[in-house]
Amino acid sequence: MRIGVVVNKEDKRVAITPETTRKFLSAGFEVILPHGYGESANFPDKDYSDAGATLCSDHAKADIYVCVSPPSNEIELPAGSYLIGQLNLKKDRIASLCERGITCCALERIPRITRAQSMDILSSQANIVGYCAVLVALEHYEKIFPLMMTAAGTIRPARVLILGAGVAGLQAIATAKRMGAIVSAYDVRSVTKEQVESLGARFIEVSNDCDGEGSGGYAKEMSDEYKKRQHEVLSNVISQHDIVITTANVPNGASPRLITKDMVEKMPAGSVIVDTAAANGGNCEVSENGKIIKWSGVTIIGFSNLAEKVAYDASQLFARNIFNFIKLMVKDDSIVLSDEIVQATIVKEIQ
Ligand code: NAI
Repeated sequence: MRIGVVVNKEDKRVAITPETTRKFLSAGFEVILPHGYGESANFPDKDYSDAGATLCSDHAKADIYVCVSPPSNEIELPAGSYLIGQLNLKKDRIASLCERGITCCALERIPRITRAQSMDILSSQANIVGYCAVLVALEHYEKIFPLMMTAAGTIRPARVLILGAGVAGLQAIATAKRMGAIVSAYDVRSVTKEQVESLGARFIEVSNDCDGEGSGGYAKEMSDEYKKRQHEVLSNVISQHDIVITTANVPNGASPRLITKDMVEKMPAGSVIVDTAAANGGNCEVSENGKIIKWSGVTIIGFSNLAEKVAYDASQLFARNIFNFIKLMVKDDSIVLSDEIVQATIVKEIQ
């Protein structure tokens, strides 16, 4: 069985690395890649060919295609082939792929169960996003993170607030703590309080009659009454912070709006907001997807695909997720779709 790739030049990450090429070959697959495939993530052609990949000049015919982000409309795949990766497909694209008999496995739909952890691209990439969000904030903050007591006087530590304490949020807390900041965090799911505190951060409470956890461990849409209380608490808390990193999401919906214009305007001059949910509408009212803007002396960074900043490491994890998924899906040289994990990823109908 032949594995090929779909290239998205706008994303530096890759879905197959020299390491997973070796794994595919020992599992009996063939790997065929275009020349220069891994260059954007610092994987040279030589490493792929040493690992046993066949390099070609064009898109070669394969049985399974893998990708790190949705393929553009111009890319035609052979009828009957499989497309696996982070797809987030738009309706018209799904329709055209389904019509051609292409089976799409959208790995962003992997269920959050223990058995699926090694294939969970959302977790592997969110972890890196949380880490990078702190680095990006530091780059634009133009002040020091840790407390510094010197003969010339004391510099107070940065106050960092993390909104959303899922996979990305918890990594952002741990990273900001390691860099010496004073960290607080907030999430609608009450189970996160203990996780936040175990990382040494303060948990911000909003009184609530029912918990914010819905099905699958994800957050649910909150009532208007709750949102009002949340707004009051956050208005007060945000003005006391220098950096806010937002990672809040609800499944299949627009990201919750947690930071309004008036909250941004109350932040100290030179503050930084990193909105990692910008691609889904954003957690901050003024953030713009893919852009860095200034609002009332505050820098607002609307970057969602921060994993791309460390494309080499992000690709290593992503490629292992892909390999583990294909290993589950291919038995004795044929594709078996019956496993519940595989089933959950298949894009069957136009949503
Ligand atoms: P996510 O990316 O969907 O959301 C990020 C965070 O934002 C979540 O913690 C969510 O509660 C929070 N959030 C949503 N709306 C909010 C609001 N209005 N205000 C404040 N915070 C808000 O979540 P992620 O990181 O993908 O994790 C989802 C769940 O899956 C978590 O419970 C996580 O622990 C669990 N998980 C389980 C795995 C497993 O294999 N057992 C693997 C990975 C995650």
